Amino acid sequence: MSWVSSLGSKLPSWLHWPSRSTARHVIYGVIIGFSLSLTSTSIALYYQQRKRERISKKFTPRPIELRSDEVVSGVTGLIGNTPLVRISSLSNALGVEILGKAEFLNPGGSVKDRVALRMIEDAEQMGLLRPNTGSRIFEGTVGSTGISIATIARARGYDTTIIMPDDVAEEKVKALLALGASVERVRPASIVDKKQYVNLARQRASKFGKLDNIEESDPSLNAERPNILPSVSSSVVVTTTSHVNFDAFDLRDDEDFLTKPRGYFADQFENRSNFDAHFVGTGPEIWRQTSGQVDAFVSGAGTGGTIAGVGQYLKSVNEDLVVALSDPDGSGLYNKVKHGVMFDRKESEGTKRRHQVDTVVEGIGINRLTNNIELALPIVDDAFRISDAEAVAMSRYLVKHDGLFLGSSSACNLVACVKLVKKLGWTENKTVVTILCDSGNRHYSKYRNNEYLRNAQIPVDISIIEDLLRSPAPA
Ligand SMILES: Cc1ncc(COP(=O)(O)O)c(C=O)c1O
Repeated sequence: MSWVSSLGSKLPSWLHWPSRSTARHVIYGVIIGFSLSLTSTSIALYYQQRKRERISKKFTPRPIELRSDEVVSGVTGLIGNTPLVRISSLSNALGVEILGKAEFLNPGGSVKDRVALRMIEDAEQMGLLRPNTGSRIFEGTVGSTGISIATIARARGYDTTIIMPDDVAEEKVKALLALGASVERVRPASIVDKKQYVNLARQRASKFGKLDNIEESDPSLNAERPNILPSVSSSVVVTTTSHVNFDAFDLRDDEDFLTKPRGYFADQFENRSNFDAHFVGTGPEIWRQTSGQVDAFVSGAGTGGTIAGVGQYLKSVNEDLVVALSDPDGSGLYNKVKHGVMFDRKESEGTKRRHQVDTVVEGIGINRLTNNIELALPIVDDAFRISDAEAVAMSRYLVKHDGLFLGSSSACNLVACVKLVKKLGWTENKTVVTILCDSGNRHYSKYRNNEYLRNAQIPVDISIIEDLLRSPAPA
């Protein structure tokens, strides 16, 4: 008798060794259970991989184009193809890849270079603008789009008039003047006011070339003559100093008409070229750079062009992708997405300080629906309200941990990325992409100025982001 069986006879009955056949059944059971779970996991992984491959095949993968690899033509050759940068501090803290499209590296310093280029090229293609004819581009902007238009206009032989609110950061005005733009600064006003900066830009464009506007213009010009040209979008006003008789002849053959200066109102808020710049440029670039491995796209909206164009493109190649809006204090878009009504809580609380979107963040947030916002609304899945304190804290956090010196809208976007990841309970194997719209050097006088922030009662407190990163995912 072995020592095992002698031991067995002394044990209590419930501790007896199972019979050989029972033991065999138990072992078979364990093996079958293990194999089944292994097989089902492999099948699930296989289908996941197949889905990713299917998505990737929809877009021909090719190496990211590096500007340093080639000689590009002029300043416009430097626009787009921006790198996608991993935000290491946030990615490491969350376990989820947070990637930023480095749009601040565009030659005009912001994401708006793409839009300005597309608007001008489209206008040229439609025959609305001709380079080196003394023509002038008019735009109403808080600054970035103006700087981008002025940059490209210089290279193409156009003049620029920029109308902007007088409360935007001073450094944007300096950049515009340095680029040779005419700048008109006006009191911030509501869109229903004729003197609102966008309305004024339209008026200035439609008066371009009339006697009271251009002193040195040809005295034979008659202010009453028809000088507004029909264009594809009703919002795009094009005027010419040529004497136009639409019925008398084919304008394409009229040398005078073709060569005389035009006034062109770019109208980024309503212009479809804004959306297209992102749908054919930024969106496909992100898809290529991530090889289709992108689970969410986060962006703020100023005109709505970025979130509409990139969001629609990415959803067209992966319908499961989440598109989320980052909306600063004072903007009505958050409530439009969440509750279908455009309003800002500051209006109901009666605490609004500014006539425009009430935030220290520049470039995003809006209180009216534009063509480009309308294109975005159907594909926006979620929205996050970002306070000024959170945006300020994020910009300081990024400098401290990543050496990234970014502007206010980029910081808002990154706060929204963290909130989205927390809300969805993502902890691994996910990728979120956002836009790093401009650099901190556009914001010294306000957003990066601690004294300005103190006076505006906006705290500078990095722990806001540390707490957000530590916070548990909501149940
Ligand atoms: C700095 C900055 N970030 C973001 C945006 C928003 O982009 P979009 O107009 O495409 O919504 C703008 C728009 O002017 C901007 O100037």
